[in-house]
Amino acid sequence: MPSNVDTARSVTFTAETASDRAAALIDGIPVSLTEYRCPICGGTFTGYADLKSHYATAHEGAAAPVVAVLTLNGRNCEVLIEPHWTLKRTLQFRLGLTGAKHMCDKGVCGSCTVIMDGRAVLSCQMLAVECEGRDIETIEGIAANPKWRPLIDAYCRWDAMQCGYCTTGFLVSAKALLDKNPNPTEQECREALAGNICICGTYPRHAQAILEAAARLV
Ligand code: FES
Ligand code: FES
Repeated sequence: MPSNVDTARSVTFTAETASDRAAALIDGIPVSLTEYRCPICGGTFTGYADLKSHYATAHEGAAAPVVAVLTLNGRNCEVLIEPHWTLKRTLQFRLGLTGAKHMCDKGVCGSCTVIMDGRAVLSCQMLAVECEGRDIETIEGIAANPKWRPLIDAYCRWDAMQCGYCTTGFLVSAKALLDKNPNPTEQECREALAGNICICGTYPRHAQAILEAAARLV
């Protein structure tokens, strides 16, 4: 083996490793905060009250960060965010869940789709603080759940992706559809995915993959 082999790239990618990685990401999210970091000056505090009083003296007039408790993939977790942060930004930059993708950031492309209280929603259009008390499911939760392997496998078998950037958003929309309608028609699949845009133009394969997954999931 050449000495300059990038060992990270030599890992064989399988459905098992994807599922394991998703589960590890979810398990790695701390349940509660142990440190409160000031986003303006980087000072760290051991309690939220200390951070608030630091803001009042050092950054008078600035909106202080808030603590939100989110229910993600069946688990509660505390997160320290600025009040204007979207759910997408919070997932990516606070919790390390990058499956909800950043693309348009305007509610147009569907790449950032998550499931909230059973509905597919755009995480770039939700403030994280609005999501407290709601059940949020991300592509990581779907990938880690063996029940949904047939859906992911069907996407791979039908090769319903090229660059793959949009694929997680499509998969989340497809899962939301199958939760509500386990036996969709091709037209219902197309309608459920109407809010997802694929720049690579993979549209014809998605409905076929979902129909195959539906037959295996029953
Ligand atoms: S990034 Fe949210 S809809 Fe495009
Ligand atoms: S597969 Fe490339 S954007 Fe959809």
